[in-house]
Amino acid sequence: MVAAKQRTDSPSGRYRSTAVTAGMHGQARELPVALPHGELRELLPDIFLVTGTMKMAGRPLTFSRNMTVLRENNSLTLINSVRLEEHGLRSLEQLGTIDNVIRLAGFHGTDDPFYKHRYGARIWAVKGQSYVSGFDADATPFFQADELAGAASQLPVSGSKLFVFRSAKPPEAVMVLLRDGGILISGDSLQNWCAADRYFNLMARLMMPAMGFVRSHNIGPIWNKVARPAAEDFEGLLALRFEHVLPAHGDEVMGNARELYRPAIEKAIAGALCGSERQLKS
Ligand SMILES: [Fe+2]
Repeated sequence: MVAAKQRTDSPSGRYRSTAVTAGMHGQARELPVALPHGELRELLPDIFLVTGTMKMAGRPLTFSRNMTVLRENNSLTLINSVRLEEHGLRSLEQLGTIDNVIRLAGFHGTDDPFYKHRYGARIWAVKGQSYVSGFDADATPFFQADELAGAASQLPVSGSKLFVFRSAKPPEAVMVLLRDGGILISGDSLQNWCAADRYFNLMARLMMPAMGFVRSHNIGPIWNKVARPAAEDFEGLLALRFEHVLPAHGDEVMGNARELYRPAIEKAIAGALCGSERQLKS
């Protein structure tokens, strides 16, 4: 979602690409800089979350987004990457070695190149996702993932798999961790902004509730409208066993998450079925 002035003065001197930003949230053509963020919080053993800033390119909206960090032995995997400020990177480095980045959201990915160039991280994206600027899926990609993963792929985190919204365009996934009763890490699909937080600017506070955001246990409204996932994908999501959700947008949901999201998912199923019927009649 972020786009800002290009930065070519990384301390390591390795991050000098002229790549553009990606997706719905990053339509500018320059690298994003690090924006304000909070501290890394350990939610469960070896599972960390940090909340940072998203600045929507071309629109006067600033709001929050989360990066989840998974640690296994000394190896870190970043999900929904957020470029951190130097002090944040130092904290991250103290947790372990930044080995992998996994992109889940079709409209995210803007900071993945940073972790590739600065740390040599291996970048994983969902099959069918590409790193293009804006909404034009046919545009020339500015960056390539190292691995394209699907539901059957072995991920770099043990006891994990992807659940893919196969009908969504572009593809979107949630990461399933088979521990602690089931943990879902989501991109734009499952959100949980209970209230506007300190990363929302005034315009976002005014506009985003009217756009369907800033609701607890919510399906990402713009994602749902643009990516148009089918009812069977939502049914598959609801069939997963999960107690917790770590969303890219909003507060973590710790405990009873599937039941808390059930009304929104069932509403999305009904909406998708309605949309299919309208298409058949037209
Ligand atoms: Fe997003």
